[in-house]
Amino acid sequence: MRKKIIALLYQYAGTYVSGQEMSEQLGISRTAVWKHIRSLQQEGYAIETGHRKGYRLTRQQDELLPPEIQEHLVTKWLGNEIVYHETVASTNLWAKDHMAELGHGSIVVANEQTQGRGRMGRRWDSSKGEGIWMTMVLRPELPMSEGGKITQMAAVAMFQAILQETGLVANIKWPNDLLIEEKKICGILTEMTGELNRIEHLFVGIGVNVNQKNFPADIQETAASLYSKTHRQTSRSRLVAAFLKHFEGYYDAYVTQHVYDVVLEVARAQSSLLGKPVNVFRGEKKQPATAVQLHEDGRLEVVYSSGERELLSGGEVSIRAQNE
Ligand code: BTN
Repeated sequence: MRKKIIALLYQYAGTYVSGQEMSEQLGISRTAVWKHIRSLQQEGYAIETGHRKGYRLTRQQDELLPPEIQEHLVTKWLGNEIVYHETVASTNLWAKDHMAELGHGSIVVANEQTQGRGRMGRRWDSSKGEGIWMTMVLRPELPMSEGGKITQMAAVAMFQAILQETGLVANIKWPNDLLIEEKKICGILTEMTGELNRIEHLFVGIGVNVNQKNFPADIQETAASLYSKTHRQTSRSRLVAAFLKHFEGYYDAYVTQHVYDVVLEVARAQSSLLGKPVNVFRGEKKQPATAVQLHEDGRLEVVYSSGERELLSGGEVSIRAQNE
């Protein structure tokens, strides 16, 4: 019923539709219409109530509401279910708490997160209305060791979506950050449940800084938004839809035909670390090395000055300055 109400309001977008008209078209009482409208308003839908006029959806540009995303969505299965929150602690946390209700390919999006989480327990700044804060819920029939590949697919899909929607060419900093001119515009936090040889749920949490004009002081030096690079507003709903389309293509190719070479090619070509002197961090310890290869399973191969090689599957690696 909620979906029908939203669709009806969209149909009349900009003009009022009376409670009577809605009740007739939907086959529910006017009180029931009013109750649904009230709960939609509480969720953040901009619905105006006009005395004796009925209801009107004041369409706001660049919302992340499901109908806005659906308008641009051309996927087969990914994003068929979109759960929207005006404000939530964290879309990853919410998805994990509600995993029993969320089918394969569901998307949880929020306009604002109050406890956005980054990798290694860090905080992720998720200001209201300016970014994409979302979690994809997947149930792949794959072992946990393949989780890195799926995350890499997400990074490449977002790289493609950003290129498509803004013309910006990002770099992919292993494991999953997207950077533009060394500043972070997107981060991915993948979490899993299941057993070693079988993923049960994969929660791919993606944060993109889209239209922020300013950042809090503590991340000002390291974060950037698409706006800060283009000086234009980017539509969040179009960007989400473009991302889902690219991701679905990579995912289906891999799961049905084991084709992964396109993802790997882009991840290598756009890597900000390959061939560079880097520092590998382990807690307080910092070891100089060179990043030499990105493997199919998402691991980064580094060579230390001793000649010893290591395949890293996570952690912190940063570019080393020449004088270090
Ligand atoms: C990182 O670079 O450290 C990963 C950041 C991931 C942020 C996203 S925003 C949506 C989802 N919900 C969260 O709490 N975190 C991820």
